Amino acid sequence: MPAGDREKFFDALEESLAGGTFVKLTLSKYRGAEDGLKNVYVRPAELKGGRRLSFLRRYKTRDAVKNHTYEEGARLLRELVGADFASAHLFTSEADLRLEVSRKGEAHLTAHAPTLDAAAPTGHERRKRRAIDAGGSLYLRELGVTNEHGEVRPAMGDKLRQINKFVEIVAGLYDSSPLKGREELSALDVGSGKGYLTFALYDYFNNVRGVRADVTGVEARAELVELCNGVARRAGFERLEFKTGFIQNLPVSATDVLIALHACDTATDEAIHKGVESGAAIIVTAPCCHKEVRPQIVAPPQLRGVLRHGHLLEREAESVTDSLRALLLESAGYRVKVFEFVSTEHTRKNTMIAAVRREGAWNREAALAEFRALKEFYGIRGQRLESLLCDRGDFTL
Ligand SMILES: C[S@@+](CC[C@H](N)C(=O)[O-])C[C@H]1O[C@@H](n2cnc3c(N)ncnc32)[C@H](O)[C@@H]1O
Repeated sequence: MPAGDREKFFDALEESLAGGTFVKLTLSKYRGAEDGLKNVYVRPAELKGGRRLSFLRRYKTRDAVKNHTYEEGARLLRELVGADFASAHLFTSEADLRLEVSRKGEAHLTAHAPTLDAAAPTGHERRKRRAIDAGGSLYLRELGVTNEHGEVRPAMGDKLRQINKFVEIVAGLYDSSPLKGREELSALDVGSGKGYLTFALYDYFNNVRGVRADVTGVEARAELVELCNGVARRAGFERLEFKTGFIQNLPVSATDVLIALHACDTATDEAIHKGVESGAAIIVTAPCCHKEVRPQIVAPPQLRGVLRHGHLLEREAESVTDSLRALLLESAGYRVKVFEFVSTEHTRKNTMIAAVRREGAWNREAALAEFRALKEFYGIRGQRLESLLCDRGDFTL
């Protein structure tokens, strides 16, 4: 046994934590007594109380996360390595170190060039990498995205890309929102369907960012709710719950993040309205079909040559509807971006409206003036989100 390998490993760990080169650490080959425990994944997490090490314990059928200070975390790792776990793999931006400890306590250290060059992947670096780990994920397997070997099913590659793109977007919004650094938050996914994005949202906040997030999916179809609740239970996602219900009937309760992807027609308006009502700091929607505005459009003389073609009118109606939604969100105090979510090659429903609540003052009148002008230009009499916000007495148009 090369004497001191264990100490060299922990010296390297502590240096990487102190020097900001720590990326992640994985414990494997469990030989302790805790039923079902397989791995521990340790990552840095930037929380309001300061930097922490987020320990994700992966059991056969569930995950559990706990955050520790760097000092506590390093102490805990010293206890776990060798006693409970035979293998520890440290990734820093300078080297990969693997420590193997035999049952007799003999330690053997190997070092390699770094495979991950981004140290302490919080913020921007974290956003750039794929946030959802497909391989070991029980929910992706149960939802049919991966097979029993943890490999992505050929037909589900696009779905996984969509899930990862969604998580990247939410990560960016979270970092630029008043929620950043909070230790707890609540999120609501309305029209959650089979729950791909609801699970990913939960997994990202709780297991990647180390934020305790209570996530609720609301879905009209009871069979999907039952399926998703079963998967959540088996994944050990204790703060994730699915409820049967309609978006428009949901009682208003405080929510930090509201998402609604591909909710049909004006269900997107109901969802945005629910987000504004519940004071959400982040509202993310990807509208589905648009039926309300198209029959109302009266082609302005300059656009007659364009809008006489049904296909182009359809597109114009979509753009105008989403622009009206964006302006209403701006008037309600949000910074709004409308952009392509996933490439059109994967789906036609690819526009995303992402809104983050402003912390300071904003020019409500300017947004409302643009809203009125746009409606007038196209001869639009009414739009669902507008009526919902007006009914709420927020403003008159
Ligand atoms: C196209 S799926 C999208 C599912 C999921 N959001 C996604 O993007 O993967 C739309 C889902 O919304 C549900 N839905 C439609 N209108 C709804 C409403 N008013 N309230 C609740 N759920 C609704 C449908 O049953 C369906 O499962």
